[in-house]
Amino acid sequence: MKIAIGNDHAGTEYKAAVVEFLQSKGIEVSNFGTDGLESVDYPDFVHPVASRVNDKQVDLGILICGTGNGVAMTANKYPNVRAGLCWNKEIVQLIREHNNANILCIPARFTSIPQVIEMVRVYLDTEFLGGRHTNRIEKIPLKC
Ligand code: RB5
Repeated sequence: MKIAIGNDHAGTEYKAAVVEFLQSKGIEVSNFGTDGLESVDYPDFVHPVASRVNDKQVDLGILICGTGNGVAMTANKYPNVRAGLCWNKEIVQLIREHNNANILCIPARFTSIPQVIEMVRVYLDTEFLGGRHTNRIEKIPLKC
């Protein structure tokens, strides 16, 4: 499995912990986030991740910023991206089962690292349920 990850300065510490966890599972990780703590603009670190998820060059994406909202807003501009903002593992399970989310957006300033590792574990282990949810996600893209 290939995962692309991106973050701004608010997510650097969390990103490092997530990358370590993913690599311990044998997952190939491409890091497009900043590794520093100086202030940066989150869209610059989202586009490389979202474009690769959009083009299916990677299986899944993970994005981290302070609230998770800026990265989610940016990623969801891509037609094949379904980026879900999550702050606990129950919501992570639902964005996979119901929305077939292909990017997990994490609010670093409102979660803890152990909580986020558990969220990522659930993200990897949960499958899309299909059925009625397929009809719904097919209605998400703009038809114009
Ligand atoms: C950075 O201060 C903060 O604005 C950013 O991490 C994120 O929360 C934006 O949505």
